[in-house]
Amino acid sequence: MNLSHRKVRTVGLATVMVIPALLLGVFSFAQDAKKAETSAQKYKNIKVLKDLPADQLGPLMHKINTALGVKCDYCHVINADHSGFDLDTKPQKQKAREMIIMTREISKRQKTLEGKASCFMCHHGSAEPAMAP
Ligand code: HEC
Ligand code: HEC
Repeated sequence: MNLSHRKVRTVGLATVMVIPALLLGVFSFAQDAKKAETSAQKYKNIKVLKDLPADQLGPLMHKINTALGVKCDYCHVINADHSGFDLDTKPQKQKAREMIIMTREISKRQKTLEGKASCFMCHHGSAEPAMAP
């Protein structure tokens, strides 16, 4: 009788200490999310760049233009009122998603690149990279 009573009290104490820790974790996560709006939160149709801070999406798109030697409309439908960027009409946009995933994978796996894998690494300013070795 006495023993099981003590057990309950110990478990109770542990719960009292763990729950605030969990709440604190959740709270600081919520604060982080508030600090930097992600691309997924700001834009309509983000499948790969979900965690990219929203203010970095524009600069990244400009880098992609340069790396491939194209303009935004190579991948995007752009209507007269500047809407349409969320549409997946052009196959180049889907290809670009696959390329983003691949480039990330290369960066992560190939330590010798020191995280510097990029579109430019292969494309060198051309949408279709040179195929010769
Ligand atoms: C080589 C293809 C490519 C080019 C060129 C390109 N983009 Fe994108 N863009 C993408 C892809 C792919 C996504 C979606 C990313 C995802 O799903 O995570 C995207 C997403 C976007 C979005 C978010 C739309 C939404 O609401 O979901 C905007 C805005 C955007 N691009 C603007 C631009 C602008 C401006 C340019 C030119 C400076 C540009 N892009 C050039 C491939 C491209
Ligand atoms: C490791 C080399 C490599 C990297 C890195 C790379 N690409 Fe590619 N990319 C290629 C090759 C090779 C092709 C041609 C494949 C094909 O014909 O389907 C290609 C094709 C493409 C195409 C289709 C072109 C067309 O004519 O339809 C797009 C769009 C593209 N890449 C975007 C990107 C973007 C955006 C990045 C950076 C996030 C990137 N690529 C990074 C090698 C690469």
